[in-house]
Amino acid sequence: MDLKTSESPQFDTKIIFVTKNEKPALTDFQADTGEITLRYENGLTKIFCGIGEKNSCTLQTIRNTAAKGIQKVFDLKREQVSVLAFNKSNEPVDGSNLALIEGIILGSYRFSKYKSEKPHEIKKIEIAGEQLNTTEIRRTEIICKSVLYTRDLVNSNASEITPQYLANEALELGNSDNIKVTVLDEKEMDKKQLNLINAVGSGSSTPPRLIIMEYIGDKNNNSKTAIIGKGITFDSGGQNLKPTGHIETMRSDMAGAATVLGVMKALVELKPSINVTGVIGAAHNAIGTNAFFPGDVYKSYCGKTVEICSTDAEGRLVLADAISYSVRNFKPDTIIDFATLTGGVVVALGEMVAGLFSNNDKLADKLFKTGEKCGEQIWKLPLYKEYCDSLKSDIADLRNLSKFKKGTASSITAAAFLREFVEGTPWAHIDIAGTAFNEGTQRGEIPQYATGFGVRLFLEYMLSSENI
Ligand code: BES
Ligand code: ZN
Ligand code: ZN
Repeated sequence: MDLKTSESPQFDTKIIFVTKNEKPALTDFQADTGEITLRYENGLTKIFCGIGEKNSCTLQTIRNTAAKGIQKVFDLKREQVSVLAFNKSNEPVDGSNLALIEGIILGSYRFSKYKSEKPHEIKKIEIAGEQLNTTEIRRTEIICKSVLYTRDLVNSNASEITPQYLANEALELGNSDNIKVTVLDEKEMDKKQLNLINAVGSGSSTPPRLIIMEYIGDKNNNSKTAIIGKGITFDSGGQNLKPTGHIETMRSDMAGAATVLGVMKALVELKPSINVTGVIGAAHNAIGTNAFFPGDVYKSYCGKTVEICSTDAEGRLVLADAISYSVRNFKPDTIIDFATLTGGVVVALGEMVAGLFSNNDKLADKLFKTGEKCGEQIWKLPLYKEYCDSLKSDIADLRNLSKFKKGTASSITAAAFLREFVEGTPWAHIDIAGTAFNEGTQRGEIPQYATGFGVRLFLEYMLSSENI
C-alpha cells in the first residue's frame, strides 16, 4: 500500500467524512457516528462516512470511522482511493487528519500469510487536502506501520516465532545507527543467574533468550526509559498444562515482546532525541521432561527466591528477571512493561481496555491520559499492601501465586509480584491479555486476532510534546 498526499483528489473512488451539521442532502443517511453510505455519481464512487455531531466527535470517532471507510474500499475491490482530509474550517478536533490516517492504515491490515488465495489489495491511497503537515503524516505512518509489524509477529505460528526468532528481529534492528542490540543465550543467562527466565524456558527445544535493545537518540543525556515485554512464544502452561479452550490462542503470549519490537522499530526510523531501552524476556513455556516443576524454588537474578506454585504463572517469572536486569544494568528513570499476564484482566476489563498498575501516580496519570487520546485505553487497578502480603512464601521469599482463593484478584497479585523487582524505580505495568488479541470480529481499526496494542500508546507517551 502506497500512501501519498495531494492538494486535490484524483481517484474515482473517494472517502468523504461528514458531520451531522454539514450533512449533504442524502436520503437514508443521518451521518451518525460510523454510518456509511455509497453514492455513484458521474463515474465516481463516493463513500460518505458519518462522524456524528461535530462537537461530540473525538479523534477515536474519526480513527474508527476511517477504518470502516477503507474497509468499504476493500469490499468494493477498488485499487485506488482518495480520502478527503479535513481543513482548518471543518476539522472537528485538533489532530483529526492524523487520526484519519491512523484509521486508514490500521484498518487496511490483512493477515494473509497462510491464505492460498491472496486478498484484495489497495495499491494507492491518496490523502487529499490543503496545507497537510507532511512531517506529522510521515511520523504517523511510521508508527502505524510498526503496529502492523507487531500484529504480524503475534499472528504468525508459534513454531516459527521462537525466542531466537525474536532475537533475530532485534539483531536486524541493530544494523541501524543509534541502537545497540545484545542477546543473552541460555548459557550466558545461567552464568548471570537469570534463573527464572531459564526455568521457564527449560522444557523447550527452542531455548530462552534475554534480548536488549538500547536506542540512544540523545548521547548527552543519561536518562532513559525502559520498555519491557513478556515474550512467551507459546504458553502451554507447562506442567500445570492449560486445558482445551484456553490453550489455542497462546501463541499470542509474546504480544508484549512484539510491542517492544514494534516500538524499537519505530524509534529507529523516527530518530527522536530520547533514550529508550527495550528488554524482552523470551521463552517457550513447554511441557516436557526438562520442564521446571511446581513446588521447586528458584533464585532470581536479584537474589530473591521464588516458590513455583504454578508453572502457568510464568510471565511474571520471566518479567521479574528482565526487570531486575534492567534496573541493575541500565538504571532507567522509568520502567513500563507490557505483558499478556493474566486471564483475570479480561474478566475485569474485557477486550477493549488494558489493566494499568503502577507505583507512581504521576506516571499512571500520564499513561492513562495518553491512552484516552490515542484510543488505546487503560484503567488503573490498586496495589494495596494486602495483595503483596499474599505473596509471602513459607519455603522461599515469594510465591508466584497469591494465597488468595483461586482466581481472585489474579491480575493485581501478578502486578504486585512484579513490583517486588523494580527496586523503587517509577514503574507501570500494562496487562494486555485482553487487548492484544481480538477473539471476536473486526472493530474498525482493531482487526480480528492480533491488535498491536501498546505500540501507539508507548510512542505517544514518549513523543508527545505537550504536557498532558
Ligand atoms: N498467558 C497467560 C495469561 C493469559 C490468559 C493471556 C488469557 C491471554 C489470554 C498467563 O501466563 C497465565 O497463564 N496466567 C494465569 C495465572 C494463574 C495461574 C494465576 C491465569 O491468568 O489464569
Ligand atoms: Zn501461563
Ligand atoms: Zn503466559
